[in-house]
Amino acid sequence: MRVIRKSTYEEASMACAELIASQIRLKPDCKIGLATGSTPVGTYKALVDMYKAGSLDFSKVTSANLDEYRGLGGDHDQSYRYFMNTNLFDHVNIDKNKTYVPNGLEADAEKACTDYDKILESLGHLDIQLLGIGGDGHIGFNEPADAFCVNTQCIDLEEQTIKDNARLFFNGDMSAVPTQAYTMGIGYIMKSETVILMATGAGKKDIVEKAFCGPVTPYVPASILQLHPNVVVIGDEAAISDAVVAAAK
Ligand code: GLP
Repeated sequence: MRVIRKSTYEEASMACAELIASQIRLKPDCKIGLATGSTPVGTYKALVDMYKAGSLDFSKVTSANLDEYRGLGGDHDQSYRYFMNTNLFDHVNIDKNKTYVPNGLEADAEKACTDYDKILESLGHLDIQLLGIGGDGHIGFNEPADAFCVNTQCIDLEEQTIKDNARLFFNGDMSAVPTQAYTMGIGYIMKSETVILMATGAGKKDIVEKAFCGPVTPYVPASILQLHPNVVVIGDEAAISDAVVAAAK
């Protein structure tokens, strides 16, 4: 595990964008797993700036997103497809046909999950998977559970997750947040060549420490990343404690 701790959110975002950009420059047809939430917004902005400055080309990149709310279509302004379009895809030269997000409008949950797994299988492993971390340690929308879930699943969101997501999105209205989501499984996340977990802000400090310094347990889903051979934790001083820096090997 590598830890990159920066003073500010902006610097952490730039460091994260640089890692992703290096991967794209090294392997223009790379496959990248993308995340939503407030944390990666600065990273996406930095990637857009690099593209606009002519130093980055997304034309051969394929992307697969972690998750989508069940019941929301891509034109719903709180859907994750919409988030990706407005924060990244609409501003760079990526081929949208090669950007994958679970289909939130597929009402048959089993079908939605197997359809997404088929797509992921056809992609093979990803070169980089970008992750944020939920307040309860979830990655994607893999919430704390009795076991790590391998494949794409339909998940009932925890109350804390619904609250957290309403705070920043859905105009603060908890009742508007869908209660279920489709999420890439932890098995596929772990297959990625490199995993970048980004965490910023004091609110993430305890959970990041639990995830990387505590026991590996499905009750803290991000803790499985301790077993990944190539994980990079990027964050600001507020979120990354000395214990996490010391845990880096
Ligand atoms: C949501 C997303 C996660 C994300 C998490 C944290 O639950 N499904 O992928 O990591 O929010 O969000 P934020 O970055 O806003 O703290």
